[in-house]
Amino acid sequence: MSFTVREYGLNDLAAIAELEKQCFENPWSYSAFCLEYADESKHYFVAETASGEVAGYGGFAHVEDEAHIMNIGVSPKYRRQGIGSAILNAILEKSRELGIRAVTLEVNDANVGAIALYEKAGFELAGLRPHYYGWGKPARIYWYYFLPAI
Ligand SMILES: CC(C)(COP(=O)(O)OP(=O)(O)OC[C@H]1O[C@@H](n2cnc3c(N)ncnc32)[C@H](O)[C@@H]1OP(=O)(O)O)[C@@H](O)C(=O)NCCC(=O)NCCS
Repeated sequence: MSFTVREYGLNDLAAIAELEKQCFENPWSYSAFCLEYADESKHYFVAETASGEVAGYGGFAHVEDEAHIMNIGVSPKYRRQGIGSAILNAILEKSRELGIRAVTLEVNDANVGAIALYEKAGFELAGLRPHYYGWGKPARIYWYYFLPAI
C-alpha cells in the first residue's frame, strides 16, 4: 500500500478525530484537535493513501529546545505497513529542522506495539511514571537525543 506523509491541514481534523477513536481508549475530541491546530507550538502530520484516505496521524509540541510527542495513531486496517514509522520519522525530521535537542514521549507500559516502534527508532527508556494512565497503569518515559552538529 502506497502512502505519503505530509503536514496536516484544517480539512484533516475530522478524519484525525475519527482515527483517534479507533486508536485510543480515551480519545481526544474533534474540538481538542481544533485547539491543537490553533496552537503554533504544535506540529502534526498525516499519512495519506493514494486514494486520499487519512490512514494515520501524529504530532508533537515544541517546548523550548525539546519536542514532546502528543500521539501517533494508525488505522487498524493499515497497521504494520510502515506508516507509524514514517510519521515518527516526519516528527524527528521536523524537530531536527526546528533545532530541537531532544524528543520525549510517554507510552503505556502495556503497549507492546508502540514500545517496539519507539525502541526500533532509537528512543531510550528513561524511567516509569506510576499510575499515569490510571491506577496500576504506568507510563514509560522515552527520550530521543539528536547528536550535536560538529
Ligand atoms: C503503535 C502504532 C502507531 C504502530 O503503527 P504501525 O503503522 O503499525 O507501525 P509500523 O508498521 O511502522 O511498525 C514499525 C515497527 O514497530 C514495531 N511494531 C509496530 N506494531 C507492533 C505490534 N503490534 N507488535 C509488535 N511490534 C510492533 C515493529 O518492530 C514494526 O516493524 P516490523 O513491522 O518491521 O516488525 C499503531 O499500532 C497504533 O496506532 N496503535 C494504537 C495507538 C497507539 O498505541 N499509539 C502509540 C501511543 S502514542
